[in-house]
Amino acid sequence: MAIHKFKVLLTHPIPEQWLSTLNNDVKLIIGPDEMMGLAPELYKYLPEVDGLISFLCDRINAEIIHHAPNIRVICNFAAGIDNIDLLACTAQKIPVGITPGVLTDATADLTMGLVLAVNRQLVQAAANARSGKWKMWYASRWLGMGLSGAILGVFGMGKIGCAVAKRAHAFGMNVIYTSRTPKPEYEITLNARQVAFQELLKTSDILSLHAPLTPETNKIMDANAFKLMKPTAILINTARGAEVDTEALFSALSNRQIAAAGLDVTDPEPLPASHPLYELPNCLILPHLGSATVGARKAMAAMTCENLLAGLRGEKLPYCANTEVYV
Ligand code: DGY
Repeated sequence: MAIHKFKVLLTHPIPEQWLSTLNNDVKLIIGPDEMMGLAPELYKYLPEVDGLISFLCDRINAEIIHHAPNIRVICNFAAGIDNIDLLACTAQKIPVGITPGVLTDATADLTMGLVLAVNRQLVQAAANARSGKWKMWYASRWLGMGLSGAILGVFGMGKIGCAVAKRAHAFGMNVIYTSRTPKPEYEITLNARQVAFQELLKTSDILSLHAPLTPETNKIMDANAFKLMKPTAILINTARGAEVDTEALFSALSNRQIAAAGLDVTDPEPLPASHPLYELPNCLILPHLGSATVGARKAMAAMTCENLLAGLRGEKLPYCANTEVYV
């Protein structure tokens, strides 16, 4: 007798072994690699699928949900949720799974990597050495600021912001932060001080973004914000690209209103290869790899599978972004 399996659309491939817990219950329809969003050839499967595994590069909007009337669960392979129309999912009583918590250290490590690389101009210096332009020991080239004693401003003191603050404290940095809720424990252990957003902008030597993307944080780093920053300041963004107004950043960097930027995320994403930001020597751009450690990605896959199986079976998702579907 044929065993009934749930049909699930996985928008882009991931290693099969990460999904092995699904083998008995799920038949996967897998979309293509190297493509943003839901590939057009996948639309025909929407009416028949029971579940969807999406990535942060997919826009899961009301139209997609409308074309998938049998869908019982959507699992985003991400901690963030800004690529999904959560209200539309909730309206259709579709629970949405996410993978919070397991990418905190990976993203905080990468943030410090960007701080070090941008501040000490590691990428440009390595290219200079590689190209044969390196002729002697330079006393006054490739200079950065000493991190010990410098001020790190953390915009959004959630899990990742706190993990970055701990690392910065270990480097001898002074931490200031903005947060919806005060973090008294970090005021004690890290000597971190909560400040208003304007003070964060004016005071930070390195300003690192860690808030989720919401209507309030969308383009929070605009031309006015850059005007308030120190000309020696560095902006780091490992949160979401749309928190920064890309054009305003380009002019702030070109006019040396701020010294440099390190971006793991951009708006749009990917940033087209022809984008002028790539031409700026004081801007380092990475392809959104904050959570790219083996451990973090396997843990994200495991949580995604747990969410998916629970949703398909009509059980509560263990990591759910819209728990209001259960009331
Ligand atoms: C997430 O999961 O939201 C991260 O941005 C992935 O790196």
